[in-house]
Amino acid sequence: MESRIVDEEVVKYIRTLLPEHRGLLEELEAYAERFHVPIIHPEISQYISVMMKCWKPNSVLEVGTAIGYSASVFATSMKLGEIDTIELNEAMAEKAAETFETLKQLVPEVNVTLHRGDAKEVLPKLTKTYDLIFLDASKGHYMEFFDVAYNLLSPGGVLLSDNVLYKGMVATDEYANRRNKTIVKRMRWYLETISNHPMLDTTIMPMGDGFAISLKKGVIDEEN
Ligand SMILES: C[S@@+](CC[C@H](N)C(=O)[O-])C[C@H]1O[C@@H](n2cnc3c(N)ncnc32)[C@H](O)[C@@H]1O
Repeated sequence: MESRIVDEEVVKYIRTLLPEHRGLLEELEAYAERFHVPIIHPEISQYISVMMKCWKPNSVLEVGTAIGYSASVFATSMKLGEIDTIELNEAMAEKAAETFETLKQLVPEVNVTLHRGDAKEVLPKLTKTYDLIFLDASKGHYMEFFDVAYNLLSPGGVLLSDNVLYKGMVATDEYANRRNKTIVKRMRWYLETISNHPMLDTTIMPMGDGFAISLKKGVIDEEN
């Protein structure tokens, strides 16, 4: 299904300007294309790489590892720190484990821990707090991860949520079909939650499949 979020010609043009990846990221992009593994869009990958220089997180938590592509983008951008990443699918986790072996050679000072299992069960067992949390698992379940993820996010930390506009269907019922109605309804509930949360400043970007950035405040902001 075609995306209704960004004009195809504009996306094509932007992609001509992105830096070409070499080595591990290039290999993972080829693997994802060959085996139809959904990974972050190239412009989201570049956005994350650039913004990591501003956010400078020391600790990252990712929900939805797949083959370890986005975790590798985080790791190569941060150079030093810790990444916890959660993957439910055993075959994906196997490939991600291979990815992280290679990644260790490239960025030895980033410690990546792969948690195999359902994020609903893994998240409540995590005890650290994180400077950045990336939600990129099944779209219909973000609300189930939200409360725990919010509590694991450090004050001043960044919550990133991918696929929040789901090919534009979240914006208007016109685009959604019956099969996708539940996901769309749940995603709207999620976006309303992060947009109206008193401790989050959120912006929703019509980029890729829709990308939300939420900054956790240090204290409740009475005026806004
Ligand atoms: C869009 S892919 C992640 C892509 C990855 N972040 C990247 O860009 O390289 C979503 C992944 O989330 C995993 N997933 C779905 N539900 C999950 C859950 N409840 N707990 C952990 N992983 C889950 C899927 O198996 C799939 O591999």
